[in-house]
Amino acid sequence: MGELNDSRHIHQRDILDNLSTAVVLLNTDLRIEYINPASENLFQISSRQAIGCPLDKVMFVDGEFRKRLQGAIQDLHPFSEYEACFTLPAGREIIIDYVINPLQMPDQKLQLMLEISHMDRHIRIAREEKLLSEQNATRNLIRGMAHEIKNPLGGLRGAAQLLERELPSEELKEYTQIIIGEADRLQSLVNRMLGPNNVPKKRNINIHQVLEHVRQLIQVELSDEEHIYFKLDYDPSLPEIMADQDMMIQAILNITRNAVLALDGNGEITFRTRPLRHFTIGHTQHRLVLQTEIIDNGPGISEELQEHIFYPMVTGRAQGTGLGLSIAQSLINQHDGLIKMKSRPGKTVFTLYLPLANTLENANG
Ligand SMILES: Nc1ncnc2c1ncn2[C@@H]1O[C@H](COP(=O)(O)OP(=O)(O)OP(=O)(O)O)[C@@H](O)[C@H]1O
Ligand SMILES: [Mg+2]
Repeated sequence: MGELNDSRHIHQRDILDNLSTAVVLLNTDLRIEYINPASENLFQISSRQAIGCPLDKVMFVDGEFRKRLQGAIQDLHPFSEYEACFTLPAGREIIIDYVINPLQMPDQKLQLMLEISHMDRHIRIAREEKLLSEQNATRNLIRGMAHEIKNPLGGLRGAAQLLERELPSEELKEYTQIIIGEADRLQSLVNRMLGPNNVPKKRNINIHQVLEHVRQLIQVELSDEEHIYFKLDYDPSLPEIMADQDMMIQAILNITRNAVLALDGNGEITFRTRPLRHFTIGHTQHRLVLQTEIIDNGPGISEELQEHIFYPMVTGRAQGTGLGLSIAQSLINQHDGLIKMKSRPGKTVFTLYLPLANTLENANG
């Protein structure tokens, strides 16, 4: 029996050692008790150096992640997150999927098992590039269509106006007014479908002023019955950014308006800014990137919708045109940036990445 236990023990250890998933065992003080070779690789640290050290030694543990770990200890509940972004002590940034599992063995102290799958940088880059090129193709198609509608629409409206002048009775003018009104409605839709057309007028701007402006715009749009609270979590050390202020306002406004609608009169929106070092957007690595998050605690976005949310004409609302996010993405792309989204019920995060400092390298090269 003892032999069997032993051989099973060795066997399990072999499995852990050969796993391509990184595994870290922690005690309840969040100190490392074991790391497998995949973790050694990921964190570029030897098991000997890591054991006994706080988790902070291998990856930066922010307030929220600490709360998750402590929550798992307290409630004995597993927790998982998809595409979470962590900074390693050397400043390198990794995107990981992780699961926290509390392990309670009989007669042993509680341990936490952290299982990490690291999304390869190249896979992430390839995925982002595919996404961008698909979105571009769709956007061009929509723009082409909008362009084709625009001209005949102008003719239609003009003709209705001429006709109106010739009409003998006021009653009949009701009909031409409908044509003119609907043509105007279509015109503004078509203009939005054409999307941002101007070259950005870039100058040094302060992202926090942009966010404040958006917050004020939203606040005046709210009715007395709506209770939307704004939480501001700004990093004041952030430098200014070279960008077109109006375009930034438009992009952030589109995202924030969606959040307000999703909250349906009750909830919280957080604006959060942070610097990211050595971060890759598309295929270009930048020394410093501005990360701006717009977070709401609304119902979240359904999985089917999530996949295509940045495509034009994709909407989950009866009155929506589905252009807001596609326009926002296009505005940020024009600044060499990218918008990403992550959503679950109770937490939807739209993240804007904008380069702040010069390019480091071409990640493909
Ligand atoms: N924060 C959010 N929470 C929940 N759902 C969201 C959120 N943001 C966007 N959505 C969903 O994504 C859809 C697409 O948003 P988008 O802004 O592109 O278009 P729209 O709001 O429907 O129309 P438009 O902005 O053109 O008036 C929305 O209809 C909504 O269903
Ligand atoms: Mg919208």
